Amino acid sequence: MAPVKFAHACAACHLLMFDRRFNEGAPHDKPDVVHAFLAKRFAEYIAAHPGELRETQDPYRDLAGKPSPPRTRALTASQWVAEKAAVAEELLWHKTCAQCHQMSASPLQDTRIARWSPANANAVGKISSTSQAEFLADQQEHLATRELSLPTVAPANTTLKWMPHAKFDHEAHEGFTCVSCHAKAMTSTESSDILLPGIETCKKCHAPGPEHAESRCFECHTYHDWSKRKEVTPKFTLPALRTGGR
Ligand code: HEC
Ligand code: HEC
Ligand code: HEC
Ligand code: HEC
Ligand code: HEC
Repeated sequence: MAPVKFAHACAACHLLMFDRRFNEGAPHDKPDVVHAFLAKRFAEYIAAHPGELRETQDPYRDLAGKPSPPRTRALTASQWVAEKAAVAEELLWHKTCAQCHQMSASPLQDTRIARWSPANANAVGKISSTSQAEFLADQQEHLATRELSLPTVAPANTTLKWMPHAKFDHEAHEGFTCVSCHAKAMTSTESSDILLPGIETCKKCHAPGPEHAESRCFECHTYHDWSKRKEVTPKFTLPALRTGGR
């Protein structure tokens, strides 16, 4: 039974999308690799689309019924990249990756990043106004120190052996239907169902007497716990033993 791999079993549906500008997902890799990928992709994008450095807020994003004046702001290319990467990472670390992984040490990004906060409003033509300049400086500083807070992904620890205290090999049981051991396999709908067979199932075939498979203990168990084996330094030689150890 091959261990489950994201690339084969999950990637087709869980695309790890991170921004609507791209129709590819983030790589399934360590956070620092994902981070480097995002910085590169956004940098390439803004170099090809410099017009997007000047942004106009989508008027429909404001609360219903509230008339909103058109708001525009201008960013430098590095501000734009840092901001878009921060937003994409917020989505990935806290939602996309977190759906399958325990992500540790990933405090939420500064919530002001890429938000149209009042301090940031009506920035058109006012890029040098104190509040706007302060806001951007603050944001730049935050983005610069942000790398320190990349999350760590808890080890996947995929279980391959569910019964560590006995031997079992599917290969020796190839002639039998799956449901003869995994009785509920065809009807189970909950991932919390335990479909592993218990010893009672084994005993149906592994029983004393003819027409049955081997039922003595050694078939499924080893007598000694070889994991606790200690190396011994041999002291005797055969001739020495023959002469009584002298
Ligand atoms: C055939 C498509 C498909 C494949 C393949 C697939 N998933 Fe999913 N998965 C979904 C859909 C659809 C959802 C529900 C939508 C969502 O929450 O994004 C989901 C949701 C999940 C969730 C969240 C469940 C919850 O209750 O929050 C987890 C965890 C998950 N999948 C893990 C996996 C893993 C691990 C693999 C690979 C071994 C995998 N999925 C393969 C389609 C798929
Ligand atoms: C649909 C579920 C799913 C999603 C979403 C997902 N992963 Fe995974 N990830 C897995 C599975 C399953 C494994 C173990 C098998 C493998 O390595 O393919 C894994 C393994 C890993 C590992 C190796 C861990 C180890 O102990 O071997 C890293 C690192 C990782 N994922 C990072 C990420 C990051 C970062 C994201 C988000 C960008 C992410 N994953 C999104 C399912 C997922
Ligand atoms: C003779 C009984 C028996 C039969 C028949 C059998 N299994 Fe299993 N299966 C087991 C046992 C026992 C385990 C737990 C093995 C372990 O802990 O290493 C298991 C484990 C599994 C697992 C979990 C593997 C993992 O890596 O997590 C899967 C999946 C599985 N069986 C699928 C099947 C399928 C598919 C078939 C039919 C082609 C089948 N089994 C036939 C007894 C059986
Ligand atoms: C449907 C009948 C059947 C069931 C159920 C069954 N076995 Fe077997 N098993 C066999 C047969 C047949 C053989 C091969 C002949 C022999 O070794 O006597 C075998 C062989 C084995 C072997 C030796 C494998 C080898 O590589 O030499 C082990 C270990 C084993 N079974 C463990 C189990 C365990 C554990 C269970 C319960 C989870 C189980 N079996 C359930 C029929 C069964
Ligand atoms: C057909 C295979 C098979 C045979 C034959 C068998 N057992 Fe087991 N035994 C198992 C399985 C499977 C388990 C569950 C192992 C686990 O959960 O890791 C088990 C568990 C045990 C445990 C509990 C182990 C623990 O650490 O929890 C003991 C003790 C045990 N068996 C003793 C015996 C003795 C004594 C015999 C001979 C009279 C025997 N078994 C024959 C398959 C077998």
